[in-house]
Amino acid sequence: MYQQHVFVCTNQRSDGRKCCADGGAVELRDYAKQRLKELGQHGRGKVRVNASGCLDYCGRGPVLVIYPAGVWYSYETQADIDEIIDTHLLGGEIVERLRLPSATG
Ligand code: FES
Repeated sequence: MYQQHVFVCTNQRSDGRKCCADGGAVELRDYAKQRLKELGQHGRGKVRVNASGCLDYCGRGPVLVIYPAGVWYSYETQADIDEIIDTHLLGGEIVERLRLPSATG
């Protein structure tokens, strides 16, 4: 059981269309996981960070979604990840600067 679950799209496309992997999603997902470990916030009962396949938000990528809040974010840098961790995952506040409208599916 995890308090919060982060799904980070790390999809790599080969057809030339924009994809999250091209935006550094793999490295930034690793960074998020490492940062949470350093803070003692990663793992059972805390936060889990998973790579996911395409979340159908490719044009806004790289993107991630946090559950149970169901909040979507677009991010580009380690500073963005830091802000999502500090403000949302640990602080319980939404980072409006990076927030995306909920995916319509
Ligand atoms: S490639 Fe990331 S949402 Fe589609």
